[in-house]
Amino acid sequence: MVKKYFSKLLLIIFVLLSKCIPNVQSCHNPEAVDLILFNFYINPYQHQVYNVHNFHEIFNHSSFLRNRNTVIYHYGSSQTATSSPIVETIDTYLSYGNVNFVLVNYESITTNVSGNSCTIGENIAEALIRLFNSGYSPKQVHLVGFSSGSTVVAIAGREIISRSNHQHVIERITGLDPGQGREEMRLRIGDAKFTDTVHTEGVGFGDLNTRGDVQFFVNGGVVQPMCHSLIPHIAWTCSHLFVITLWNESIRTQHLSFASLQCESWEHFLHNDCNHNAPVGHIGPFTSSALRGSYFLETNLQPPYSK
Ligand SMILES: *[C@@H]1O[C@H](CO)[C@@H](O)[C@H](O)[C@H]1NC(C)=O
Ligand SMILES: *[C@@H]1O[C@H](CO)[C@@H](O)[C@H](O)[C@H]1NC(C)=O
Ligand SMILES: *[C@@H]1O[C@H](CO)[C@@H](O)[C@H](O)[C@H]1NC(C)=O
Repeated sequence: MVKKYFSKLLLIIFVLLSKCIPNVQSCHNPEAVDLILFNFYINPYQHQVYNVHNFHEIFNHSSFLRNRNTVIYHYGSSQTATSSPIVETIDTYLSYGNVNFVLVNYESITTNVSGNSCTIGENIAEALIRLFNSGYSPKQVHLVGFSSGSTVVAIAGREIISRSNHQHVIERITGLDPGQGREEMRLRIGDAKFTDTVHTEGVGFGDLNTRGDVQFFVNGGVVQPMCHSLIPHIAWTCSHLFVITLWNESIRTQHLSFASLQCESWEHFLHNDCNHNAPVGHIGPFTSSALRGSYFLETNLQPPYSK
């Protein structure tokens, strides 16, 4: 009898906790604010560090070119500014991107990005709104997030729109293999003028259900053919990181790459049963903002990956 009530009580406590805790953890964590840094790269080896309070001063930095677009990149939960895929990304953008490149970075890797995505997103929004009030246009901004980073930049985009009463809308947000997480926080249509997602892994870390105006499914998007392993975790990690390699290639080639077709599913793509009236899509900085829906493509198994 006692046991029965006890388990009921536990269940009620569990339900209450699971309803309350995420909100408390995700948006009211003031300590996280001072850990958020913005590294503005002057060259791959040199950067100026800003924080939420002074980020808008980037506008006056002699290396910040006001007529250029700015990419603000947010890495995934377990990465840092010195993780090799991120070092490669920085180098690629600085050498071939023709943009001002800013990396959102954390002083302490103990900052739990997935647990703090709401606080972090809101603070990035605040920093950006100040930059826009200083005269830089949101039309020149492209937010890019990898894995859980795509949730953070989505929250930032959404917050900028609501805080500025639709006065400031980010031009583009890209989710690179967007991570799993609470559904209401994930990237969605309307977080920017144009939103796109690129999917390379859909079982372990990535979330195939996160959709932008257009979503690209690379080699089906679930697991990559060059990432086979008997240990699922290895195959997932390799497939998840492949989106960074692909993005890197799309910037380095500096022209349209990774041609894709609009289809209902991967099976339809494999049977050459796609919508040939829809425009051909391309992944990368040159993706047309007119694209809508699901696009599929195959890559080579070795670099260059674009067919
Ligand atoms: C840029 O510099 C000018 C002139 O010193 C100053 O008036 C302005 O407030 C600065 N803008 C930002 C965003 O720091
Ligand atoms: C990060 O936060 C999430 C959500 O609150 C939690 O599920 C996860 O266990 C945390 N990870 C670490 C390493 O603390
Ligand atoms: C980045 O892209 C270039 C060009 O395709 C390639 O040579 C290089 O290996 C890539 N690096 C990574 C880490 O993917």
